[in-house]
Amino acid sequence: MQGHNPNWRVPPKDRVLKRMESTSLQSYKPKIISEQRRKIEDLCRDLIVNNDHIHVVEQRLRQAIDKGLGKESHAVASVKCYSTYVRHLPTGEEKGQFLALDLGGTNFRVLLVDIGENKQFNMQSKIFAIPQHVMIGTGEELFDHIATCLKEFMVEHNLESTKLPLGFTFSFPCKQLGLAEGRLTTWTKGFKCSGVEGEDVVRLLQEALKRVGEHNIEVCAILNDTTGCLMSCAWKEPKCRIGLIVGTGTNACYLEDIENVELWDGDSGEPRHVIVNTEWGGFGDNSELDFIRTKWDEAVDEGSLNPGKQTFEKMISGMYMGELTRQVLVDMIWEGLIFQEKDTDKLFEWGQFLTKYVSEIESDMVGDFTRARKVLEELGIKDPSDEDMSAMRYICELVSRRAGFMASAGITALLKKMDYHDVVVAIDGSVFRYHPHFPNIMRSRISQLMGIDYKFDLMLSTDGSGRGAALVAAVLTNQEQQRKQQQEIENEP
Ligand code: BGC
Repeated sequence: MQGHNPNWRVPPKDRVLKRMESTSLQSYKPKIISEQRRKIEDLCRDLIVNNDHIHVVEQRLRQAIDKGLGKESHAVASVKCYSTYVRHLPTGEEKGQFLALDLGGTNFRVLLVDIGENKQFNMQSKIFAIPQHVMIGTGEELFDHIATCLKEFMVEHNLESTKLPLGFTFSFPCKQLGLAEGRLTTWTKGFKCSGVEGEDVVRLLQEALKRVGEHNIEVCAILNDTTGCLMSCAWKEPKCRIGLIVGTGTNACYLEDIENVELWDGDSGEPRHVIVNTEWGGFGDNSELDFIRTKWDEAVDEGSLNPGKQTFEKMISGMYMGELTRQVLVDMIWEGLIFQEKDTDKLFEWGQFLTKYVSEIESDMVGDFTRARKVLEELGIKDPSDEDMSAMRYICELVSRRAGFMASAGITALLKKMDYHDVVVAIDGSVFRYHPHFPNIMRSRISQLMGIDYKFDLMLSTDGSGRGAALVAAVLTNQEQQRKQQQEIENEP
C-alpha cells in the first residue's frame, strides 16, 4: 500500500504457523459452525459503536471545533478549523474560462473549464500520475513535475499565449493566510515530500512554473477539496452549507459566522460568514477517541507514514479501511477462526486487502458470495467455505459501518453548530461513491442523531475539485471586476 511505513513489521507468519502446529489441526475444525462465528463476533465486539458512543464522539468533536476556532486554544486543538477566506458562494451567474489543478491523491489533474451562459459547463481535463518516488521525494521535484505537466497541457490545448486564472485544489491541511496563500501544516494520505511543510504551496507552484518557463498562469486561489465540493454543489443548490469528503482521506468544511472565527483577520464587511476548513481528520489526535479505538486502529496507525496523526481519518477513510479490515482478518486467522488450512500468505502483507474489496464484498446479495470469491481469488485463498465468506463479510460490515457512523457523528456536530434548520450537505469521495451502503448508513444515522424535527439532505457533489476550483476562481474574478468598475465610477470626475 502506498504510504506504508516500511519499518512497520507484520506479525511474523511463523508465529501463526507455530500455533497451528502445536495443536492438532483437528482442534481447529469447527465442531459447531455457529460456535466459531460466535467467537469471531465476541472478539470483534470492540468495533461496534452504538448511539451513545456516537453521541459522545459528536459532542467531543463540537468541543474540538470550538477549540480550533478559538484564539487561545487554536494552537493545541486537534481540529484546526482554518479559515479559507472564501466568503461568497456562487450565484449561478459566473462565466469565463479558468484553469484548475487538483492535487490530493495518487494522481493529479489539470482542467480547462469554460463556464458559459445558463450554467453551461465545458471541461477538458487530463490526469497525470504521481510516481511513488515523487510522493515521498523532495518538494521541488513534486512541484517541477506538476509544472511540467501543466505546461504540457497548455501546449496541447494551444493555450501558450493565453493568460488564465488558476484555482489550485490542494487537499492537505493548510493554514491559509489569504485566498492565494496557504502554508502546508503537515502532509497526509501517503505524501511526505521534504521541504514543503510550513511553506506557502502557491509560492512553490509559482516558482516551479517560472522554472519551466510558464508565465501566463496566475494562481488566484488555493482551496481544499471540501471547499470545492461545497462550492460545486452550492452553485446548483443554495441550501448547501457543508462540504464533506469521504475518500482516500476525510474532511469537512462548513459556512461559519465570522464572529465565531476568533482568528479572523480579513475585512469585517458583508457577507458576515466564511467557509471554514475543519481538517477533522486530526480529531482524536488529542486522545478524544481513545475510548473507542481498538488494537487494530493502533496497528494501522503504527504502520502509517504519520503515526499519532489523523486519528479520525484512519478510522473512516479509504486509505485505511482495507488495511483495518485486514488487521482484523489476520487476527482471526491467528485465533484459528477463519480460513483454516488455507494459504493466506498474501493476506499477511501490509496493504494487500484493498478498500475496494470491502465495497465488493458488501455488494453481494446476503448469502451469495460471487464477488467475495473473486476477491479471495485475487488474494490467492482457494476454496473458502461459505462460513468463512460470511465471517469475512461480517468483519467488512463492522469496519465500514463504524466508519459511516463516525462520519455521521461529524456531520451531526456541524449541523448542530449551525443555525440553519434545512441544510444540504455536499459529499464526494471514493468511499461515499463506491461503497454500496455508505450513503444509506449515513442518511439513516444522521436522521437518528438529529431527530425528526430537523431537515437535511445529502447530495453527491460532482467533481468538486475541478468544477469547485473553477468556481472559486470565477467568483474571485467577478468580484475583482466589480471592484474595478466600482473604483472607476468613484474616480469619475
Ligand atoms: C486532508 C484534507 C482533505 C481530506 C480529503 C485529508 O487527509 O488533510 O485536507 O480535505 O484528506 O481529501
